[in-house]
Amino acid sequence: MGTSQSYRVAVIGGDGIGPEVTAAALAVVAAAGVSLVTTSYELGAARYLRDGFVLDEATLEQLRGYDAILLGAVGPAIGDTRIPGGLLERGLLLRLRFGLDLYVNYRPFHGVAGSLAAGCDFAIVRENTEGPYAGEGGTLRRGTSHEIATQGSVNTRFGVERCVRYAFERAAGLERPRLTLVHKTNVLTFAGDLWSRVVAEVAGEFPTVAVDYNHVDAACIYLVEDPARYGVIVTDNLFGDILSDLAGSVSGGIGYAASANLNPARTGASLFEPVHGAAHDIAGTGRANPLAAVSSAALMLEHLGEAGAARRVARAVQDFDVDVASLGTQGVTDRLIERL
Ligand code: IPM
Ligand code: MN
Repeated sequence: MGTSQSYRVAVIGGDGIGPEVTAAALAVVAAAGVSLVTTSYELGAARYLRDGFVLDEATLEQLRGYDAILLGAVGPAIGDTRIPGGLLERGLLLRLRFGLDLYVNYRPFHGVAGSLAAGCDFAIVRENTEGPYAGEGGTLRRGTSHEIATQGSVNTRFGVERCVRYAFERAAGLERPRLTLVHKTNVLTFAGDLWSRVVAEVAGEFPTVAVDYNHVDAACIYLVEDPARYGVIVTDNLFGDILSDLAGSVSGGIGYAASANLNPARTGASLFEPVHGAAHDIAGTGRANPLAAVSSAALMLEHLGEAGAARRVARAVQDFDVDVASLGTQGVTDRLIERL
């Protein structure tokens, strides 16, 4: 079972159902025999409303030093007008991605029984610090009839290459090693050209990996009609954001989708979070589905080097054949722990 080592993990429960699902994930990790020393950080909507800030510099620096960060969900309730739209997402989640240089967003999908992707295993490796998310652009003459808004997409060789190399490493580890670049090279010619050349170059280091290319619009069809074709999809920040919601949906729903915001170079703590949001409407009712948070914790265990425990937790989630809604958060957690 577990090792004698224990890991220092920062826990940001966040808003809505976030604290409930992270608590469930931590209980499952403990049952898998891995010892964590956790420190809770109260960040998110409640903190912003009380103290007027989202994430201060000193806290960001503290978070950098942990072995990992586990995050539940951040975001205001729908219709809560006290918090400007996007403020928490940019101020916390994106700030952590950029500040800790979490340059890969790794999102594995396992099609659950009855889903369009039933039985399929594939992953999206999304570049996580560039593209349109880098914030290049601006507004001129705002509010006038001559107003201009530009929103650029940043693609650096350094950034693309390190993401693509990570994707190839993942692809090389598959039973059937294959990697698909998803882009829009027919229209986004400058960025598409860079991505294509980098993939062709890095492919030389991974001769066992079969390499393919799909336009992003075609990939939307294939994900629905033929998801089995995919092993690892590598793509830019915005395409990866959109495609991973579609991939979650065809794999059984966003309630299962896990993600790892990784700094593979380990110059800052990596961050693990379910793809779903805060779901304020069911917070505190005991009905939140913890499976995505538990899967995210399995990715955290993998990153910490606890491969055996990571596999056991991931398998317990994958084989979950009981109706989640009828069991509730605690019931699902207990069931997972029994399975371990
Ligand atoms: C995601 C989310 C974020 C993103 C939002 C909350 C900023 O949608 O993690 O996929 O766009 O990356
Ligand atoms: Mn998203």
